[in-house]
This record gives sequence, structure tokens and C-alpha cells, in this order.
Amino acid sequence: MKNLEIKNDVDSHRPKQAKLTIIVLLYTITFLFAPACDSSPYKQGKNLYVTHCQNCHQEDGNAVMGLIPPIAGSDYLAANQDNLPCLIRYGLNEPITVNGMPYHHEMPKNEVLSETQIANVINYINNAWGNKADFVSYDMVLEGLKKCE
Ligand code: HEC
Repeated sequence: MKNLEIKNDVDSHRPKQAKLTIIVLLYTITFLFAPACDSSPYKQGKNLYVTHCQNCHQEDGNAVMGLIPPIAGSDYLAANQDNLPCLIRYGLNEPITVNGMPYHHEMPKNEVLSETQIANVINYINNAWGNKADFVSYDMVLEGLKKCE
């Protein structure tokens, strides 16, 4: 009889415990993921990429074979950091090789992006899809643009 009472007691706590576990889980998930979405340092850069680049370069930065070179994992991107401000503002129209593949289609110029926006989009593509490169400042963009302005 004593045993039975204890068993009942444990059972009556179960639904409460289950609810509590779910609430704790939900809080954990919210706190883990909410800051990752909201405080991304590349948020404006990402938005600019979606608006001005993604049509050609894809959401995931991958190549459109033979037409559009990849930005994700691009050796050209890594080797041409100093030329990026000019490339983004004035486009590119010359034969290039990216990760061993030849490309030669015109990338149009984009004169609506300010120097700050160029810096933001560069920092986004430099650090998206597993890419890693040093931070590019507004001053570095100004310096880079001297080559073509
Ligand atoms: C209309 C299509 C189009 C748009 C829009 C476009 N690009 Fe490109 N991009 C190209 C093409 C085509 C090339 C190759 C140009 C060549 O062969 O001369 C290229 C080359 C590049 C390269 C150098 C090659 C590489 O893959 O590493 C980078 C970096 C790049 N684009 C970034 C951008 C960024 C950032 C934007 C947005 C601000 C953008 N592009 C918008 C078509 C486009």
C-alpha cells in the first residue's frame, strides 16, 4: 500500500515535468538561435548581396557552370582582394580563371552602391559559405577605388 502511494505520487508529477522540459527546451532554442540571426555582423552585406548579386551568383555563391564564376571558395576572390571595390563598382569583362575553370561573360557595373555598402557586401562574400578573409574597412574601399576612379 505504501509503495502504491509513492508510485501515484511520482506519476502525478510527470505531466508537469514534461511541460517544464518543453518550456526549458524552447527557451534554450530561442536564446541559442535568436542572437545568431539578429546580430549577424554581415546583415546589410547579405541584404545587398541578395538584391544586387544573387541573381547571377546564386544564393549559395556557387557557379553557374560556364557562365557565372563561383564566389564560394573562389581562389580568384582570395587573390584579388585589392581589386574588389573596382570590380563591384565597375564590373568585369575579361577572360578570368576561377578554381581552374575559364569564364568570360560581362559582369555589369553597379554604381548605386556607396563605399560603405561596397565594404559591407565585400565583408559578406568574404565570410559567407565557408569563405574566410580579413575585415575590409571603408578606408580600404576608398583606397581600392583609386585604381579605377
Ligand atoms: C548580371 C550578372 C552578375 C551580377 C548581377 C553580378 N555579377 Fe559578379 N560576375 C559575373 C560574371 C559574368 C563574372 C565574370 C566576369 C568576367 O569573366 O570578366 C563575375 C565575376 C565576379 C567576381 C570575380 C570572380 C569570382 O567568382 O571570384 C566577384 C568576386 C563577383 N563577381 C562578385 C559580385 C558581387 C559582389 C556582385 C554584387 C554586388 C556581383 N558580382 C554581381 C556576373 C554578375
